[in-house]
Amino acid sequence: MNSLLRLLAAMVILSSLGACASARRSEPLANSPLSLTPALARGEKVFQAHCHQCHVQGEAALGPALNNKPLPAFLLRTQVRHGLGAMPSFPESRISEDELDDLVAYVKALRKNR
Ligand code: HEC
Repeated sequence: MNSLLRLLAAMVILSSLGACASARRSEPLANSPLSLTPALARGEKVFQAHCHQCHVQGEAALGPALNNKPLPAFLLRTQVRHGLGAMPSFPESRISEDELDDLVAYVKALRKNR
């Protein structure tokens, strides 16, 4: 419990730091590879927070590439919820159902963009 509180405090501090870092943050980048709808933008955030470290921009890193195969949405969801091998599972307490919807849309968009 104590460590959870500390984690929450760290998140609050980090997000307040982020708030005053720069106004440029939310502007679209000129060379952004995807034109992001609001749902895709939310999906991208979820991806950056939970998947990016192992699947960099959908390319292979520690995990395999995600943008080069037509993995059906239900398999993608199963993989995220249950994990496999070195990939951890992400229960609803970490990625909500809505976030997962956006995440799946984002991963599909990564594929189309390739
Ligand atoms: C700690 C590193 C790690 C994280 C974080 C991670 N993955 Fe993975 N992922 C892996 C590894 C390793 C595999 C290969 C698993 C295996 O086949 O044993 C994998 C496999 C997958 C696959 C199956 C790909 C295939 O070729 O069959 C999908 C889909 C996937 N990950 C999606 C995600 C998504 C979406 C997230 C974020 C919610 C995520 N992963 C977070 C490491 C990770």
